[in-house]
Amino acid sequence: KSRVAILISGAGSNMAAIIEAAKAADYPAEIAVVISNNPDAPGLALARAAGIEALAIDHRPFGKERHAHELAIDAALRLRGVEVVVLAGYMRILTAHLVRAWEGRMLNIHPSLLPKYPGLDTHARAIAAGDAEAGCTVHLVTEGVDEGPVLGQARVPVEAEDTAETLAARVRTVEHRLYPETLATFILQRKTAPV
Ligand code: GAR
Repeated sequence: KSRVAILISGAGSNMAAIIEAAKAADYPAEIAVVISNNPDAPGLALARAAGIEALAIDHRPFGKERHAHELAIDAALRLRGVEVVVLAGYMRILTAHLVRAWEGRMLNIHPSLLPKYPGLDTHARAIAAGDAEAGCTVHLVTEGVDEGPVLGQARVPVEAEDTAETLAARVRTVEHRLYPETLATFILQRKTAPV
């Protein structure tokens, strides 16, 4: 099984979905560690309750030294023999240093049908645009924010009465299916890919 780390900042519902999927004997990943930049992230307690090591590596003591914060994360990943990094609601933009260090081995989930709506407030923007469909995208992380190669997408309808919150909740339900599935497919293809 590939050793996977999950990086979070908040609720950790996608993390929880991946942890749940990884309980299956034939799932190709084991969750080696969960790391949050936010010590108060509810996802940390969820991970610990599932028996997974969960670390807070707070960005605030590092101030403007973003690279130093990322070096602390990188050291924690390497110490645990992590092979693939999964961003799941990790709400800090990574510097080129960490992105390059994990290029091709770092995935993110974004709550829109990329290339539509990179960045924040994706659901409000989809509603304001009158879109009939919304969704989420799992992609490889590259230096351009929300720009990396797409690995998978899932779609939901936008309903007439939707608010950003109701649409976010509908998208999240499909995120919880898409992310574990796409991660598994990615790992299996990586293992069989010619080197
Ligand atoms: C998810 O909807 C994810 O797509 C989004 O944050 C939420 C995290 O929820 N990610 C981004 O907006 C990344 N820019 P979770 O903590 O419950 O998984």
